[in-house]
Amino acid sequence: MDPISAATHFDPYDFYYARLRARGGLTYDSRLGLWVASSAEAVAAVLDHPACRVRPAHEAVPRAIAGGPAGELFARLMRMNDGQRHACPRAAIEPGLQALAGVDLRACLAQWHPALEAPSCAADLHRWQFRLPVALVAGLLGVAAEQREALALRTSEFVACFSPLSDPAQLQAAQSAAQYLNGQMQALVAAEEHSPLLSGILRLRGELCPADLCANLVGLLGQTHDACAGLIGNSLVALLADPALCQRLRQAPGQLGAWLIQRQRLDPPVQNTRRFVAEPCTVHGVELQAGDTLLVLLAAANHDPALAAVTGSDPAHQGFSFGSGVHRCPGRGLALNIVQTLLQALLQSPGLNQLKLERHYLPSVNGRIALFSDRPQVSA
Ligand code: HEM
Repeated sequence: MDPISAATHFDPYDFYYARLRARGGLTYDSRLGLWVASSAEAVAAVLDHPACRVRPAHEAVPRAIAGGPAGELFARLMRMNDGQRHACPRAAIEPGLQALAGVDLRACLAQWHPALEAPSCAADLHRWQFRLPVALVAGLLGVAAEQREALALRTSEFVACFSPLSDPAQLQAAQSAAQYLNGQMQALVAAEEHSPLLSGILRLRGELCPADLCANLVGLLGQTHDACAGLIGNSLVALLADPALCQRLRQAPGQLGAWLIQRQRLDPPVQNTRRFVAEPCTVHGVELQAGDTLLVLLAAANHDPALAAVTGSDPAHQGFSFGSGVHRCPGRGLALNIVQTLLQALLQSPGLNQLKLERHYLPSVNGRIALFSDRPQVSA
């Protein structure tokens, strides 16, 4: 195991991440050629430091997608920029997302198109993990009911452009999906009527140019895709292993929110993120040089016994699963709302605990996304 492969290991927490933290919060891994931040204090220091940027100075867009529609879009995302190109879209989008933390999404699911059925196999769960969260966000942006899941499918193709593990065919599909999704967002913006979320964003758009606006709307779908799939999958791993817990949460659904807050800290879907040092600086007592790369182990920091001392006792913080500092997730409240709503519906569906499933993790350098497959029938 190394700090990158730990993301998809069956249990990186008690032994491996704890051992990394014990070496010091911020240490150099000469095999990977990276600085690794693993303690809560070091992770907070890196994410708060203005010299630690989200992209390397010499490569604003990954070479593998530069020059195509996915690269064009990538270059405009708030997630992939610092300075004005970050702050401007964020100011327009964050308030609208925050307002959705408490909105009741159950009515939306009740009238779902095509109708939702109780999952009877792994492929059904796949739909709940990968299609429904993105489709819900698409719905909030104003996408018509019958187009939402198709749009979620194209988002699955698009997010391949974020992964260094994608092959040329996946990157090609990501390029065409980027073009498609961008066109869909342009059409939403150009429409005469807008959803409440999109109206709010347009009201606050200020100097945001149309291309940056549409790219960042696509960005919301992309950010939702893997992260929500991971939180649903990782929560299901815990739920399916404990029928008594399922029963308790079925009978007292009001406890699900507090349980999920614990779960996202203990088994976070985004295990790490990266930062790139833009100028010489000292972070957590360590001197760093321009060009250094930092691997920020959010998941290791979440398990640091010193976590509460660093983040305070604010229950709304509860670890680093949603990042920290200027790039912290603006969709946190909405994401928890989406995942809680979907888990509650799954818990109520008959037969969930009878599903015969195996689990593995989606290959990834930073995400921890439990994937289920049907357990082969053993013939007598
Ligand atoms: C369980 C679900 C989610 C998790 C665990 C998650 C986690 C994160 C993390 C860790 C970051 C910071 C990355 C970094 O600093 O390097 C982030 C950023 C971001 N997230 Fe989320 N996210 C989730 C869902 C969502 C949703 C539903 C949306 C929007 C609909 C969203 C929108 C964003 C955006 C736009 C950013 C970039 C913010 C910036 O750069 O200022 N996320 N998310």
